[in-house]
Amino acid sequence: MGKCFRTFVRVCQLFRIKRFVPVTAAAAISFRQFLETDIPFGMRLKSIAGWNQLPEDWKRFLAHDPDGCFLGVERSGEPVGTVTTTTYGKRFGWIGMVLVHPEHRRKGIGTCLLNHAMTHLEGLQVACIRLDATPLGKKLYDTLGFQDEYELERREGIGRSCTFEGVEPMRPDDLARVCAYDAPRFGAERARMLEFLYQQSAGTAKILRDETRALRGYLMARPGDHAWQIGPWMAEDAEAADQLLRSGLAALAGKPVFLDVLRQLTPAAEMLEAFSFRVQRPFIRMYRGRHDFTGEPEKTFAIAGVETG
Ligand SMILES: CC(C)(COP(=O)(O)OP(=O)(O)OC[C@H]1O[C@@H](n2cnc3c(N)ncnc32)[C@H](O)[C@@H]1OP(=O)(O)O)[C@@H](O)C(=O)NCCC(=O)NCCS
Repeated sequence: MGKCFRTFVRVCQLFRIKRFVPVTAAAAISFRQFLETDIPFGMRLKSIAGWNQLPEDWKRFLAHDPDGCFLGVERSGEPVGTVTTTTYGKRFGWIGMVLVHPEHRRKGIGTCLLNHAMTHLEGLQVACIRLDATPLGKKLYDTLGFQDEYELERREGIGRSCTFEGVEPMRPDDLARVCAYDAPRFGAERARMLEFLYQQSAGTAKILRDETRALRGYLMARPGDHAWQIGPWMAEDAEAADQLLRSGLAALAGKPVFLDVLRQLTPAAEMLEAFSFRVQRPFIRMYRGRHDFTGEPEKTFAIAGVETG
């Protein structure tokens, strides 16, 4: 039995089938639900990684999927890593906040966290698992069978006063219409997520309508540790997107701003070039499973954020 098992492990290692490799860490690490009291640890890890989240972002993950956020803990009781999952019905689940403390990296803990998150999502019968990978994370996801979907890039710059036309502030009673507009474009219904993001938007959320009062797009922003994050920024066409962007930048005049934009599928990057927004770093959107609900990426000028989708 022992010999059989060792052979199985060797074969998995040879073919890089990480899902079944009981790496040394697997025996030493356990998982428990990430709780609000773990947010300071999560904030420490994300600060080491130079990420932009605030405690409110962790709270959003916990409020949206309280059973889907996990902490990796060593046998000594020391927390060593985090992972969050966000479900959008059964269409897809999003994996985010994959963080391992630098002193514990390259020991298989990242793989264990990912496996745990995937098992959780599979248990919920989610058809497809998606995520936006950093170049460091991509190496890990490649070994777990994720496939590339499309490229994203983070743009950074400074908000500035500029002119725009027809854009209105988003009011609470606009939310239902915004959610209905968003669902086919995002690929799934995400009303609760948009409500949380709206609560974080501190008066910066905007909508644009046509002459029949139908939505032509919307934009939200929320504060972050290093910069305001604009997203989602969804629009029917480049002209609507431009007006919304201008209104968003004007609302954040003088403040540092990040946006995670689709590189090839929309003109978002060129629009941001005009406002001197530079590329900060690339991401790659990846998926695993049946990906039937791709939405309309050509209408997604900026995603909500790489940890959220
Ligand atoms: C990415 C991260 C979570 C990986 O955690 P980890 O515990 O080191 O991952 P593992 O030990 O399970 O590594 C799994 C595999 O990923 C790849 N990998 C991980 N880190 C790597 C690195 N720095 N360079 C090259 N390959 C790497 C390797 O294939 C590795 O397998 P191997 O060690 O057998 O070669 C960790 O580096 C981290 O927290 N980085 C900062 C935050 C981040 O970028 N998170 C990813 C968000 S998408």
